[in-house]
Amino acid sequence: MTGTALTTEIEAALSQAARFPRLRYMGSKYKLAPQLAAVFADLGTGGTFLDAFSGSGFVGYLAKALGYQVTSNDYMNYGRVIASAAIASDGHCLPDELIARIAGPARDDRDFVQTTFDGVFFDRADRAFIDSAWSHIEYLDGFDRDLALAALILSAARKQPRGVFTISGDLSRYDDGRRDLRIPLQQHFIEHALRWNQTSIRSGREHLALQGDAMTLDRTEYDVVYLDPPYAPPSDDADYTKRYHFLEGLSDYWSGGLGEIMQNTKTKKIPKRHSLFANKRTAEVALRTMFEKFAGSSALVVSYSSNSVPGADWMLRELGAVKPRVDVVEVPHTYHFGTHGLATRRQATEYIFVARD
Ligand SMILES: C[S@@+](CC[C@H](N)C(=O)[O-])C[C@H]1O[C@@H](n2cnc3c(N)ncnc32)[C@H](O)[C@@H]1O
Repeated sequence: MTGTALTTEIEAALSQAARFPRLRYMGSKYKLAPQLAAVFADLGTGGTFLDAFSGSGFVGYLAKALGYQVTSNDYMNYGRVIASAAIASDGHCLPDELIARIAGPARDDRDFVQTTFDGVFFDRADRAFIDSAWSHIEYLDGFDRDLALAALILSAARKQPRGVFTISGDLSRYDDGRRDLRIPLQQHFIEHALRWNQTSIRSGREHLALQGDAMTLDRTEYDVVYLDPPYAPPSDDADYTKRYHFLEGLSDYWSGGLGEIMQNTKTKKIPKRHSLFANKRTAEVALRTMFEKFAGSSALVVSYSSNSVPGADWMLRELGAVKPRVDVVEVPHTYHFGTHGLATRRQATEYIFVARD
């Protein structure tokens, strides 16, 4: 492909990806879209692509927009649901009649969310809507079910201040007048269901959305393997369950209302799902295992941040042990922490390591 054709292809993919319904998600790579698109396009589009830690689903979506055949994976079920709706559904739409039915009167009188999260998340009407929506979703399957759930997940994430479920109770101090915080969840649902319908691109190829530990994925050979594991900060660990437990529960109705809830926690969390990548004591072994596992793939693309361990030198050395050529793209990045008055900024470098034959 000529330089101009490549640039046009990248620009088209970026403008498609800009329409992706965003989740405010820890570690999401929206901001790195131009650099990632350039790397993926340079590796040759049209081949097979694995997004092993898919999170918000954005990177797999970008790869699909570039022409790749995508497999997405995350160990959280809500990640699988979003990737299924955004990528694997391949143009399938949730029919208007089903959107209206889910947004309409309840099919039964279940009240798991209303009682479990009373005084914790959302107001009475919004909690009742979640129970009511699930009374219909329970009877759906395939892409209809995942598109409906993706709409419900996006609704809850957008209506919760800051998009994280570590804060609960009276959250009026976060109300900055944004429409997302004011409209009922039911209206969010209708709008997001329509948005997911418009998001899914039809390619005519089979794309997969999986849920599981990246360490145990069966297939190991792809044209491009993208690894964006949780960053292991020097202290603490990057805990996705703590922040997004409500979305995970929502994705399967807390295992049909039978799943374990830690009743002594303020936010009614589900038990933590451990990740070897998120902890500084185990991250090195976990990353090395992944590099060796996917060494037979044509290219490994790894996102990592200078805020985390192990460092860039370690990554270069270990990737160099499985591939003859390793390039690094460095992108300066500013993180914002806290809210408004208390917001602080921290400079970091986002690395994209590209290891290939
Ligand atoms: C940095 S985020 C990925 C962000 C993603 N690239 C995006 O743009 O939204 C890391 C993801 O890894 C997932 N994760 C953590 N441990 C995992 C494991 N062992 N296997 C698969 N996924 C895992 C988390 O649920 C989280 O979604």
